[in-house]
Amino acid sequence: MAWIAKASSTEKIERRAEPYVTAQMKAAWEKEILPRYATKHGALMPILHEVQHAYRQVPYQAMIEIAQFLSLKPADVLDTVTFYEEFTTEKMGECVIGICQSIACEICGHNAILNHVRKRLNLEPHETSDDGKFTLLAMECLGSCDTAPVALFNDTLYENLTIEGVDRLIDAAQKSSTGSAHS
Ligand code: FES
Repeated sequence: MAWIAKASSTEKIERRAEPYVTAQMKAAWEKEILPRYATKHGALMPILHEVQHAYRQVPYQAMIEIAQFLSLKPADVLDTVTFYEEFTTEKMGECVIGICQSIACEICGHNAILNHVRKRLNLEPHETSDDGKFTLLAMECLGSCDTAPVALFNDTLYENLTIEGVDRLIDAAQKSSTGSAHS
């Protein structure tokens, strides 16, 4: 068996003419984020959160633009994006459903809920629907084991979930143009 080196350095990344990091974003970050950190590198995480929130992904072009803005190497930005689960290079759905699959939730019926959502949305974990509305994730412990089973719908945690409750949240997200599960 031989190692095959991937030609990453020559790989082309998708680019669009319009920058992801806009002049308006830069001005806001200079005013509100950079002053909070001793070094520009320190501001990387909050800036990545802003970009993920704005575009539901951190595209490769955006990583290069962020690196330029923070005087970092693009590889440093890529390392951070690929290390943390909350950052994605693929575009996430408007409503990200993260069902906890760790032990307490597993004992309390996460599987029935996960299977129900898989069938209802025709999605496997880590897939996004073709219309960009939903992403389904199976997540590790969300820190609310005493109210298992739990799931995140975007940033909101829902506890003691039932199939009926999940259906109501999906119905609300389907009606909402933002994918929010709040009706
Ligand atoms: S195991 Fe699901 S919240 Fe802890």
